[in-house]
Amino acid sequence: MDTISVGFIGGGRIARIILTGWERAGAMPERVIVSDANPAVLAELKERFPAIEVAGDDNTRPASADIVVLGLHPPAVGAVLPAIAPALQSRALLVSLAPKWKIAGLAGGLAGRQAIARMIPNAPAAVGSGYNPVSFSEGVTPEQKRQFEQVFSMLGKMPEVAEEKLEAYAVLTAMGPTYFWFQWYELLDLARSFGLTDAEAREGLVAMVEGALQTMQSPGLTPDAVMDLVPVRPIAAGEEAIREIYRTNLIGLYRKLAE
Ligand SMILES: NC(=O)c1ccc[n+]([C@@H]2O[C@H](COP(=O)([O-])OP(=O)(O)OC[C@H]3O[C@@H](n4cnc5c(N)ncnc54)[C@H](OP(=O)(O)O)[C@@H]3O)[C@@H](O)[C@H]2O)c1
Repeated sequence: MDTISVGFIGGGRIARIILTGWERAGAMPERVIVSDANPAVLAELKERFPAIEVAGDDNTRPASADIVVLGLHPPAVGAVLPAIAPALQSRALLVSLAPKWKIAGLAGGLAGRQAIARMIPNAPAAVGSGYNPVSFSEGVTPEQKRQFEQVFSMLGKMPEVAEEKLEAYAVLTAMGPTYFWFQWYELLDLARSFGLTDAEAREGLVAMVEGALQTMQSPGLTPDAVMDLVPVRPIAAGEEAIREIYRTNLIGLYRKLAE
């Protein structure tokens, strides 16, 4: 295994998710350097992962690593690219986790540099169960891809996909857990209030969600047939409103990201 240094520009939630996944897998890269505009975020990250190097708001320090991860929201990316371009090593791979910023735009901001990957990870990467689609620019060498896989593959599935699909994955797989987690926690609270222990409620919830998803995968069952399997639908009166919330919010979000 190569010794690979990884720099994070932006030490927020997704950096923490990835570090947690590496720690869990016993695969923390030998050197991790993190910068962030927010000193409190960086201090908390250092407390949680004492082995990381923190660079304050000096983004050029993580930018000198072998793999440079951009963990920034799209509006912050534009100003950072030209500021880090001179610090990037010739063999470095830039990995952007931000939706909206296409490889061509990233390359333009980096004065034409071509070794760029875009990945849209999701939070289950923290427990090695991520779904983390990735696209590579043409200039990424087989050696850079190999190193990328060495560093990120233990976080979950990492399908290589067409770049123009990444924003759809951002809405489906990256933000997807947020559509369900609050409902599942609500169900757990209710199940406990009905007399199940915490362990019983959690086991029942996990089995129900996994089984429901497997049922959807069953060949020959249409969506209508699946939804007709249970005649009593206690929250049916709210279903149309929930569908409308999905359409209104997710179509607008997808358009904003994909434009
Ligand atoms: N969280 C996820 O599950 C997830 C999944 C897939 C993709 N992503 C993508 O990853 C990116 C980061 O998301 P996140 O969830 O980690 O957000 P976050 O928790 O808000 O972290 C972003 C961090 O970047 C800092 N920052 C802002 N401008 C900076 C600059 N110029 N230089 C250095 N640091 C700067 C922010 O500081 P301030 O708060 O002070 O601005 C913040 O601490 C986004 O593009 C997001 O779409 C996230």
